[in-house]
Amino acid sequence: MADKTFMVQIQGLEKYFGEDKDRVHVLKGISLDVPEGSLYTFLGPSGCGKTTTLRCVAGLERPDGGEISISEKKVYSAAQRAYVPPNHRPIGMVFQSYAIWPHMTVFENVAYPLTIQRLPKTAIKKKVVEVLKVVGLHGLEDRPAPKLSGGQQQRVAFARALINEPKVLLLDEPLSNLDAKLREQMRFEIKALQRRVNITTIYVTHDQSEALAISDQIAVMHEGKLIEVGSPHQLYSRPKRRFTATFLGLTNLIEGRVLELGGNSNPGRLETNQGILSFVPATRLEKGQAVVISIRPEHIQVHKEKPQGLDNLVEGTVKDAVFMGDAFHCHIVVQDQLLRVHTHPFNPMTPGEKIYLHLDPQSCNGLPAGDTEGIEESNLGV
Ligand SMILES: Nc1ncnc2c1ncn2[C@@H]1O[C@H](COP(=O)(O)OP(=O)(O)O)[C@@H](O)[C@H]1O
Ligand SMILES: [Mg+2]
Repeated sequence: MADKTFMVQIQGLEKYFGEDKDRVHVLKGISLDVPEGSLYTFLGPSGCGKTTTLRCVAGLERPDGGEISISEKKVYSAAQRAYVPPNHRPIGMVFQSYAIWPHMTVFENVAYPLTIQRLPKTAIKKKVVEVLKVVGLHGLEDRPAPKLSGGQQQRVAFARALINEPKVLLLDEPLSNLDAKLREQMRFEIKALQRRVNITTIYVTHDQSEALAISDQIAVMHEGKLIEVGSPHQLYSRPKRRFTATFLGLTNLIEGRVLELGGNSNPGRLETNQGILSFVPATRLEKGQAVVISIRPEHIQVHKEKPQGLDNLVEGTVKDAVFMGDAFHCHIVVQDQLLRVHTHPFNPMTPGEKIYLHLDPQSCNGLPAGDTEGIEESNLGV
């Protein structure tokens, strides 16, 4: 079997900012591999080190340790004292403020990187026309930049990043300056464009729904460390770390202790304040270990009458229910805990109502309870 080809490889990346006592450790041994042709997202809260990692890949920041390769060529190595400057790395970049020049036309903006390389005019023209076709701006060459819509300006920034035919496209929160509606539309455009050009792309965002919508793989980051890497589906439905479960979408955490580990397609058993519950371990756990199960609000089934013969049934009282159009978002009091539950809009809930919740064991994802350092939890208490 042929090995998967990786376009960008990062090994043990270290970065500090500041001097002496003000020195802060910003990247703490980041290692990751970006498969060729994929859209790979760095996701994490503000300040966790996403931009710094991206700038290290671009060569705009000099790391303090580790290695970075692009297309199997080392562009940085602490051990080998190697550092390739940004203009010699095969990358194109789009920043948060996409910085297109207002005094230039579409053509001049996109041609700029080639103009400064002093390429012949005819060659420049050919390339610009080609790349404008790719981003869907063909025919708008002479339009002054300020006369473009927000979405079109975004495409100009992409065209300019692609004009040098880079091997890797680096995008740092490229949608954060757009309004909500356009942002959502541009997600699809970016994904479609990335597929069409088939260019390896590293995408930085703190917005988990954006990450879920566009990524092939997501690297979840927290406080300068890589927490977990996986496809959107893996990370949402079977996160291996507590931080991932709480950062990516809404979830309920129920604390407990392992009674039985299960195995051979049998679920494990857990002792909790809500009674004994069955669960599926997401990662290696030990008997007696303190764990949490994470279950998503939409994976909890509500029954108004007590159903017979169901495992993992708990009794609760509706605290409140908010109609959201496509669902009711409810808070349900269960013993000492408040659970979030999303129910079908045809199934209204009344505050004070007694109900039964079925926590399907397959949706009860068992995680180590530790791992909480610095994590804000959406635990509401009762
Ligand atoms: N040039 C700099 N000098 C000092 N500290 C910096 C600099 N750039 C970033 N930082 C700090 O490094 C940490 C990571 O920043 P950054 O990579 O921009 O995070 P993110 O992009 O995930 O929001 C933050 O604590 C930030 O304040
Ligand atoms: Mg940033």
